[in-house]
Amino acid sequence: MKLCMIGTGYVGLVSGTCFADIGNQVYCVDKDINKIKKLNSGISPIYEPGLDELIKKNFNAKRLIFTTDLKKAINASDIIFICVGTPNKKGTLKVNLSFVYKCVREILSYSKKKKIIVTKSTVPVGTGDEIEKILKKKKKLFSIISNPEFLREGEAIRDFRYPDRIVIGSNSKSEFNIMKKLYSPLISKGAKFFTTSRRGAELIKYAANAFLATKITFINELANLCEKSGIDIEDVALGIGSDSRIGSRFLRAGPAYGGSCFPKDTKGLVSAAERFKIDLSIVKSVIKSNQERVNLLTKRVHKILGNNLKNKKISILGVTFKPNTDDMRDSTSLKMIPYYCKKGAIVTYYDPSGEKEEFKKLKNCEFKKNIKDTCKDSDLIILLTEWDEFKSLDFKKLNKKKNFKVYDLRNLYNPEEMLNKKIEYFSIGRPNTN
Ligand SMILES: NC(=O)c1ccc[n+]([C@@H]2O[C@H](COP(=O)([O-])OP(=O)(O)OC[C@H]3O[C@@H](n4cnc5c(N)ncnc54)[C@H](O)[C@@H]3O)[C@@H](O)[C@H]2O)c1
Repeated sequence: MKLCMIGTGYVGLVSGTCFADIGNQVYCVDKDINKIKKLNSGISPIYEPGLDELIKKNFNAKRLIFTTDLKKAINASDIIFICVGTPNKKGTLKVNLSFVYKCVREILSYSKKKKIIVTKSTVPVGTGDEIEKILKKKKKLFSIISNPEFLREGEAIRDFRYPDRIVIGSNSKSEFNIMKKLYSPLISKGAKFFTTSRRGAELIKYAANAFLATKITFINELANLCEKSGIDIEDVALGIGSDSRIGSRFLRAGPAYGGSCFPKDTKGLVSAAERFKIDLSIVKSVIKSNQERVNLLTKRVHKILGNNLKNKKISILGVTFKPNTDDMRDSTSLKMIPYYCKKGAIVTYYDPSGEKEEFKKLKNCEFKKNIKDTCKDSDLIILLTEWDEFKSLDFKKLNKKKNFKVYDLRNLYNPEEMLNKKIEYFSIGRPNTN
């Protein structure tokens, strides 16, 4: 099939490349000329394991075309996927759909033949209906489908190839077969093909993300209780997670959830519900609790460092919101690092995905190219993201300073072992962790 992906970010680039890899001709379009230039010279603008090789393979096979020429891409394609960002409107819970609607208007102006338009971007309930209104002049030329994306950054290629389910929402049944044909290589490997109404599919994506965010927030709040009551949160997570009705995933206590999806989608769901005069009080509490957690864990450092951060050397390992991605959106580090700098600390950080623009303007903050240089002479080492290379560190070798401390927000180390090594160790929701 001939496909057009509008937006070559984490979703559009990965799914476009994977669609090409299963034999489709895919136009990946972006308005950002630098991204397209990079892609055409064989460089991926994002860090995603395995993606570079897959792009090269399909680009060389001429199944993958990178362009800024939307008109050409639309006219050459049967199915157009909208994969642009849907951030929150600044300072509100509402979703900014201007990027989506701009794409729709462009599709309207360029299309001459019948096209299927698919929203892969996460969009609130009723967005498909709004898109239909924009297209009403040439209504008969278009079918509007919702096909939300569930891939996780860092595991995106695997998630595309082996999805738990493929959700297709359409108000007309005839489109289900076309989408089924497109996804047939994945369905034949066991992916569940699930069809529903267009609004149903739109809500499924928000409901899934809000539920997962709730699970994380729930275990994080229990970790606070464990810290005060001498209980190990890991035991509690195991004890409840072994119940198949609950399940063990997303029960790892740690920092506030971040990333490009959970923070904005929980807010987007609350705001969409408000339009239908429905109060989603649980999701509202989750949003509030998560915001409080960022502050709680950031400020805990005052207690750890004896209430004085001035000239204290703080080393941070991992600044992305999770491992195996370069995505910084809504990462805890965005609050933590500027806060420590403001309080007079000297911050060094290392992340396997490289230096971050976000911290370049900070006075007391420096990126180091490896773990050793980051942790040298540190007063406090903070483990913020669980990249594999942070999981078996010899802290005493890395840091010769006496009485340095380790603050482990991912519970990567055993508190007793740290005690035996005479390292002052702080973690999340566990006894013997100070
Ligand atoms: N990132 C994830 O893990 C993930 C997972 C599932 C769903 N989603 C959803 O997918 C959507 C996209 O997310 P993302 O993380 O890929 O975003 P992104 O910001 O990485 O990429 C969006 C891209 O769209 C481009 N763009 C914007 N308007 C355009 C236009 N008019 N024409 C051409 N290109 C345009 C931008 O330049 C950018 O490259 C969002 O709705 C998000 O919620 C994201």
